[in-house]
Amino acid sequence: YPPERIRNFSIIAHVDHGKSTLADRLLELTGTIKRGHGQPQYLDKLQVERERGITVKAQTATMFHKHKFGFPDASDIQDPPNFLLNLIDTPGHVDFSYEVSRSLAACQGALLVVDAAQGVQAQTVANFYLAFECNLSIIPVINKIDQPTADPDRVKTQLKSLFDLDPNDALLTSAKTGQGLEQILPAVIERLPSPPGKCDSPLRMLLLDSYYDEYKGVICHVAVVDGALRKGDKIASVATGQNYEVLDVGIMHPELTPTGVLFTGQVGYVVSGMRTTKEARVGDTLYHSKSVVVPLPGFKPAKHMVFSGLYPADGSDFDALNHAIERLTCNDASVSAAKESSTALGMGFRCGFLGLLHMDVFHQRLEQEYGARIISTIPTVPYIFEYSDGSKIQVQNPASLASNPGKRVTACWEPSVIATIIIPSEYVGPVITLCSERRGEQLEYSFIDNQRVLMKYRLPLREIIVDFYNELKSITSGYATFDYEDSEYQKSDLVKLDILLNAQPVDAMATIVHNLKAQRIGRELVEKLKKFIDRQMFEITIQAAIGSKIIARESISAMRKNVLAKCYGGDVTRKKKLLEKQKEGKKRMKRVGSVDIPQEAFHELLKVS
Ligand code: GTP
Repeated sequence: YPPERIRNFSIIAHVDHGKSTLADRLLELTGTIKRGHGQPQYLDKLQVERERGITVKAQTATMFHKHKFGFPDASDIQDPPNFLLNLIDTPGHVDFSYEVSRSLAACQGALLVVDAAQGVQAQTVANFYLAFECNLSIIPVINKIDQPTADPDRVKTQLKSLFDLDPNDALLTSAKTGQGLEQILPAVIERLPSPPGKCDSPLRMLLLDSYYDEYKGVICHVAVVDGALRKGDKIASVATGQNYEVLDVGIMHPELTPTGVLFTGQVGYVVSGMRTTKEARVGDTLYHSKSVVVPLPGFKPAKHMVFSGLYPADGSDFDALNHAIERLTCNDASVSAAKESSTALGMGFRCGFLGLLHMDVFHQRLEQEYGARIISTIPTVPYIFEYSDGSKIQVQNPASLASNPGKRVTACWEPSVIATIIIPSEYVGPVITLCSERRGEQLEYSFIDNQRVLMKYRLPLREIIVDFYNELKSITSGYATFDYEDSEYQKSDLVKLDILLNAQPVDAMATIVHNLKAQRIGRELVEKLKKFIDRQMFEITIQAAIGSKIIARESISAMRKNVLAKCYGGDVTRKKKLLEKQKEGKKRMKRVGSVDIPQEAFHELLKVS
């Protein structure tokens, strides 16, 4: 297939507007997968993706299609397919917009899918602009037209007013009933450009993604921009300077299908004896060893926006957790993990995530795929602190912000985001109140049609990582949609809030908060802890403090818990049983200093904003 016969495209949409269903239908239409293959959402491969109905990691599938130019011609029915189409799936959730831009870099066009009843939503806007920045040609697809509340005309008006897309270009489809789907592939072929690479130039390919396979080793997804790649070729990496031999090369059809060669414009996989995915730098340029090439532009590195400590729920499990994290970060380079130790929790990891959902998904994968039981500390964002000696540090762990009498904090900054919120106009009031409580600054307010309002806010990242989206949904009866992009660091008035148990600070519970909110957050944390810590043999005081100033205090009175008290009579087996039971109960506790803290207490602390 010469580049003129290739189209690389993506489907972009707001969550739940039908992207994965539509992708499945296209794979069926082209015979890439069988109809009713019993595994809906073919491209969502991870267990968490299927369970939560979200796409986390982008997947690619190659399809072959017979396109009839003009009128269908009965004589060419026997002819082989004349077009090769690569569908590059993208995640829909805001945390993964980094993955979206990566996938779009390998495309020339995108289907912008919008739910005919819900209309344009916050992620439609965000994804449209990501595609627009990549200079992609866009085909608007208004999906779910089978729904009784579908209003395609309203969606067309929104597409025109927000993105200046011609309403006549919109395709009307139902991925459920199949209506209108036959127009999609012809539109992809006729309206999207072919890949621009040069067949006779030296090989340059972009490394899109990689994962580790038990049997084959590291498998790289690549887009061949110029030239061709064959099995047996010697290739080199611009990023690492390493050389490899191509052991296997092929397409995802949709399973790995060896072809022995990939030509200009194709997207496929390469196995080249890389030992770990750390060697496979996403965005790297691979080329024929000995040739001289200009590297491709690549990608901006993933930015970690949320950090938290991960510790084994049971101290002895550190090695198991270490192993699980190593394996998992091997396949998800967007998570960073560095060993750290906490006085309270022992050895663990400081992990960086793209966002809160990303963190949740990682926790879930650790538990589901590796059976790890973990305690996670209050998530934090990367703050910047400046000291009196002029030095500046990025603080990813609040506990590391030790009070050093020789060094005074002179200024601090926190990361902010630009949030896009779309809501029916009757909810404007409560949303404005919520955003100002969260220290937001309104940047834009406009109507996208006669019922819906689009607002843009600058918000501190810290304010949206905990519970913002849930609250936004609840005050708008579920109608609000929300997306955000990173923005600059802003000067702020931040303080470190310590939690003390029996006058001992618990490093794993320290958090950095805005000065104006410290009092309330301190009180909430202390109350939460009181609720979840059981009475013990001695009195426990729980305090929140800023420096040496105590801002909240609770205490739990002592209780004598002698499980053997009831066992008069001296029945040894019964005594043993009770002691065993008591030990069981203790397993789910974490002893901090002298106080046993149940795992749930740590989970509850995560919810205080
Ligand atoms: P993410 O993977 O999270 O981005 O979601 P998505 O955009 O891929 O949405 P998905 O394909 O999972 O569809 C969401 C829901 O809408 C599912 O329950 C689908 O069955 C349903 N759905 C998809 N297309 C249609 C359609 O044309 N009509 C109707 N009525 N329902 C549809």
